[in-house]
Amino acid sequence: MSRLVIDGSRRMKGEVSVQGSKNSVLPILAATLLSGEESILYNCPDLSDVRGTINILRYLGCRVEFAGNTLICDSRPLHENSIPNSLMREMRSSIIFLGALIARTGSASMCFPGGCEIGPRPIDIHLKALEKLGVIIEDDHGVFKCYAPDGLNGAKIALSFPSVGATENVMICACAADGTTIITNAAREPEICDLADYLNSCGANISGAGEGTIVIEGVQKLKGVCHTVIPDRIAAATLLSGCAATGGRITLKQLIPSHMGAVLSIFEECGCDVLIKGSSITLDSPFIMKSPKIVRTMPYPGFPTDAQAPIMAMIAKSKGTTLFIENIFENRYLHVGGLLRMGANIKVEGKVAVLQGVESLHGTDVEAMDLRGAAALVVAGLGADGRTNVDGLKYLDRGYENIEAVLSKLGADVKRI
Ligand code: UD1
Repeated sequence: MSRLVIDGSRRMKGEVSVQGSKNSVLPILAATLLSGEESILYNCPDLSDVRGTINILRYLGCRVEFAGNTLICDSRPLHENSIPNSLMREMRSSIIFLGALIARTGSASMCFPGGCEIGPRPIDIHLKALEKLGVIIEDDHGVFKCYAPDGLNGAKIALSFPSVGATENVMICACAADGTTIITNAAREPEICDLADYLNSCGANISGAGEGTIVIEGVQKLKGVCHTVIPDRIAAATLLSGCAATGGRITLKQLIPSHMGAVLSIFEECGCDVLIKGSSITLDSPFIMKSPKIVRTMPYPGFPTDAQAPIMAMIAKSKGTTLFIENIFENRYLHVGGLLRMGANIKVEGKVAVLQGVESLHGTDVEAMDLRGAAALVVAGLGADGRTNVDGLKYLDRGYENIEAVLSKLGADVKRI
């Protein structure tokens, strides 16, 4: 078992490029099934969730090669349409294979997906939406057997919540439907746009991605293409949080700064200087940060739930009080226990957390319980006095590629042992 050993309070400086987006590449990998041809994805991050998705693709029969952040997936030899429980339970995004498999083969069978325990995470919105397209879903003791006896037909689908995964599932599946599908109350995250860009370059006809209404005209055939995955806005937010926790100054390159509006305004409220130049962001942070008044997680373009934990760790050491309201997931304060052990002052009541900034944090042994919570403990360790040992790296490795190397390049003292 490995752990990260962080000797904190080293002022971060320097510049790095940011990895490709985990939340973009996972649905795009599922969507590679549609063409039945070869797709090449550039800027693909090497993460355990990506490796888990490759295992699913290979199980289904696809040929996948992955080296140096380039992934080639040939979905021609696909011969399976059911996914074993052990592969499904690796991660939440495996549910996107439901829409992709039905689109390609007309049927699919799989169990409930896994993922971090940050709330109940039901899939009712996915299932209801796919049913509207003509999919019959039978729940056979926890295994969903899905088929489309009369083919897939375009439909008007009003999502009860702008679920990212459900929007992706419908977009993928509707490409193979007859006629027009209109999704209202669709998720507007940049990763939705990246998936639409990939599918459109394959020959799909999707408009409105990034807006609340997405229109998909079904097409007969898609083709394999080359696509570059967008940069990871959450990995970027995590690195900036780490930098600010140390009073540092770093530049992140190869980003799309407009994807980070709500996050960057929190950094500014904390007293950081944020300089955007083309595709790079330079963050210059003060020695003592001001606490932002309120951090309220919302669907995009609001403040992302995935950045809540690292930002909380960053301002654990600050001057003032911050109110956090977590509106997306029910159990997303799993990092608070670790932060308290390091000397933070945080009280949690349901979806609200009240943070009273402290003068310093101290290093100790902490254990991650979920992906972004793991990132938060690393951020806290970077800003803490003394040594922090972070266990539970299986969570961190789901979303961050070689984080110790990236942080070391930025002047932090971080080792994996
Ligand atoms: C995606 C991201 C995740 C991010 C989240 C919200 C990926 C791989 N993961 O997750 O990092 O934190 O968006 O931005 O892209 N819900 C239901 N029923 C459903 C689906 C969702 O009740 O059928 C609820 C969820 O429990 C949650 C909320 O809707 O409370 C948002 O979930 P959703 O947007 O679907 O998140 P994911 O796609 O799972």
